[in-house]
Amino acid sequence: MALQRTFSIIKPDATRRNLTGKIIEKFEEGGLRVVASKRIHMTEEQAKQFYAVHAERPFYMDLVNFMISGPVVVQVLEGEDAIAKNREIMGATNPADAAPGTIRKEFAESIEANSVHGSDGPDTAKEEIAFFFSDDEIVG
Ligand code: PPS
Repeated sequence: MALQRTFSIIKPDATRRNLTGKIIEKFEEGGLRVVASKRIHMTEEQAKQFYAVHAERPFYMDLVNFMISGPVVVQVLEGEDAIAKNREIMGATNPADAAPGTIRKEFAESIEANSVHGSDGPDTAKEEIAFFFSDDEIVG
C-alpha cells in the first residue's frame, strides 16, 4: 500500500483538557506523520458545512455546537494505509465500544465529546483535507 493521507480533528473536549500532545503521540507511535496542522476556532458556518452529511440526524446541531465550543486542531496525517490506521488508533466512535489503548478509550468522554474525528474513506479524506488546507500548507 502506498503512502496515503487522511484528515484529523482534535476536538474541543481534548484541547480543553490539554490532551493535544498526548493525542499526537498516539498518531506518531502508530506510524502516522503530521504533515499539516493548525489550531482554529471553527465558525458555526464551517461546522455546519463540514458536518452537512449529518444534517438530517437528530444530534446534528448538538454536534455543531460542540465543535464550536472551543478550539480544535485540524491536521493532515500521512502514512501507509493512513485512513484505516487512523481509525484503528482512534477506536470506535462511542468510547464505550472502543478497544483498549485507543485514543477514544483513553481520553473520550462520550459519543459527542469523543476527542477526535478522522476521515472514513479516500473520497472524504480528500474533501476534508481540501476543506481546511491549501496544497502549500501540507509539507510531506
Ligand atoms: S460514524 O462513525 O460516522 O458512523 O459515527 P456516527 O455515529 O454516524 O457519528 C457521526 C458523528 O456524529 C457524532 N455523534 C454525535 N454527536 C452528538 N450527539 C450524539 N448523540 C452523537 N452521535 C454521534 C460522532 O461523534 C461523530 O463525529 P465525527 O466527528 O464524525 O467522528
